[in-house]
Amino acid sequence: ATLWRGVIREYADRLPTLAGAPVITLQEGGTPLIPAEHLSSLTGANVLVKYEGLNPTGSFKDRGMTAAISVAARNGAKAVICASTGNTSASAAAYATKAGMACAVLVPDGKIAMGKLSQAIAHGATLLQVAGNFDDCLTLARKLAEAYPVELVNSVNPARIEGQKTASFEVVDALGDAPEIHCLPVGNAGNITAYWKGYREYHRDSEQPGPATRLPQMWGFQAAGAAPIVLGHPVDEPDTVATAIRIGNPASWKQAEAARDESGGRIESVTDEQILHAHRVLSSREGIFVEPGSAASVAGLLQAAEAGHVPAGATIVCTVTGHGLKDPQWALRNADGSDVTPTRVPVDAFTAAQALGLDG
Ligand code: F0G
Repeated sequence: ATLWRGVIREYADRLPTLAGAPVITLQEGGTPLIPAEHLSSLTGANVLVKYEGLNPTGSFKDRGMTAAISVAARNGAKAVICASTGNTSASAAAYATKAGMACAVLVPDGKIAMGKLSQAIAHGATLLQVAGNFDDCLTLARKLAEAYPVELVNSVNPARIEGQKTASFEVVDALGDAPEIHCLPVGNAGNITAYWKGYREYHRDSEQPGPATRLPQMWGFQAAGAAPIVLGHPVDEPDTVATAIRIGNPASWKQAEAARDESGGRIESVTDEQILHAHRVLSSREGIFVEPGSAASVAGLLQAAEAGHVPAGATIVCTVTGHGLKDPQWALRNADGSDVTPTRVPVDAFTAAQALGLDG
């Protein structure tokens, strides 16, 4: 059997800007596209979930980071820097370690999930908690990368988009065609930009011999408290339980609008309540554990279905971007907001059976 070799080697012919770079990889990509029976029955569509939490550091960022760090290595970089709501920092720290580079990360003070913070620290990054939000962190990171010998690995780095577009290739390779609709959470808007680029490239090349693919509608979803693209203006104090997408002024704003408009798609907002509901549906009905930000794609799909916007029988892919273990606390709350308290029992089969409802 041939083992999966990571996105750069798997899609080398479609990543010309990576040519000649050393391949710094943790064998990212090749993630499952899981048929979601419950979501399909709720929406009347054929829904599949692209489970990006199964990448090496637990989020889709690894696709972009293998590319960004490989290009940084080609440039002779000794150090990289990023701003992050958590996942980018975890990924940058891991890939920088693999490349033997130093890594500095700027995160919003107190607003990143424990799993992500511990990853960055475990991989030896130098971490600064900035007294500001993600947008402030990105401004600071850009300034530092201009003035000092550190390479910026946020999604404003074009290599990041190149790496992340491979997720679209995988979807088309798995389905034999693009889906009719692709749903994504939107934060800094790099990922929707990357997916749209990937779909367009497969579509363009279908003129020549090779896979003939359609173009999907791109449906992006922001958290209601951090929905600048929906509102049409930056949000100064973004706020949402989905800390991954707590962003008020996305760097790829224009590209996200282009993806929406060129594809005939939509960018809408979903409330924290809808996000946590979708999070629960994924874990309790589909067996897929994600972090809250990831659930925005599914929350948005359910919202669109309720509004009657989902065509019957359409093939729809929802990307869920990060693993549930990144930010597990949300699973320990009941739907009414109260804490889950595990039932305690003595070492006794009869009592345990009763507590489990096995007594008939
Ligand atoms: N989902 C998760 C789990 C994320 O971590 C992010 C972004 C997004 C969705 C949104 O993707 O920014 O490309 O629109 N996280 C970045 C970070 C900002 O720093 O980890 P996007």
